[in-house]
Amino acid sequence: MDADAKKRAAATAALEYVEDGMMVGVGTGSTVNHFIAALAARRHRIAGAVSSSEASTALLREAGIEVVSLNDAGDLPLYVDGADEATKHLHLTKGGGGALTREKIVAAASRKFVCIVDDAKLVPVLGRFPLPVEVIPMARSLVARRLAAKGGQPVWRQGFRTDNGNEILDVHNLKITDPVALETEIGLLAGVVEVGLFARRGADVLLVAGDGGVQTLKR
Ligand code: 5RP
Repeated sequence: MDADAKKRAAATAALEYVEDGMMVGVGTGSTVNHFIAALAARRHRIAGAVSSSEASTALLREAGIEVVSLNDAGDLPLYVDGADEATKHLHLTKGGGGALTREKIVAAASRKFVCIVDDAKLVPVLGRFPLPVEVIPMARSLVARRLAAKGGQPVWRQGFRTDNGNEILDVHNLKITDPVALETEIGLLAGVVEVGLFARRGADVLLVAGDGGVQTLKR
C-alpha cells in the first residue's frame, strides 16, 4: 500500500468516531483531506464542522458541510487531524502545513482527539521531522536565537504566512526526549505564537495505517 492509500485508510477508520448530530472539529493536511471526502457522504447526519484552516474550510464547504466558528460552536465532542510525527505515547509534532495554532486551539476545545497517520510517521522519539514554531514576524530572529541556544537549528519558512498572518520557523535537530517540558519552554518565549508539539494535549486515539490494516493506540 502506498502512503496515500494508508492515509485514506486511517481517515476512513476515523469515521467510526463520528456520531449522528455531532459538530466535528476538522484538522488540516492531505490525510484530513481524505477524511473530509469521507465525511461528505454523512453531511446530512452531522451538525457541521469547526475548521482549523482556510484550506480545510474551503474543502468542507465544497463538500457541502456547514462550517461553524469555534466561538459559536463551544466545546466539541470530536477532533480529527493528522500529524507529521507521532509516538506510542500519543505525543505529536504538527504544523508541517503551517496550521498548528488553529489546530491546537480546536484540539484544546475537543473532548476527544483522534489522530490519523500512516505508519511512516510513528517514531520512538519526536525530532526527526523539524519542529514548526509560529512566530510574530518582528520576533523571528529573536526566537531563532533562543531556539539555537536550546540546540536546535531554526530555518525560516521563507515566503510562507500562516492563516493568522505570522511566520514559521522549522527547527531541525532537536532531540525531543521530554515533549511536555519542551512544549512549555518554547511556548513561553516572547514572540512565539504556538509550537507544533502536541504533548500537553496529545491525541486520545491514534489510528496508524500500515500494510496490515489500521492499528488503534489509546492513551
Ligand atoms: C498541518 C498539520 C498536518 O496535520 C500535518 O502536517 C500532516 O499533514 P499530512 O496529512 O499532509 O501528512 O499539522 O499543520
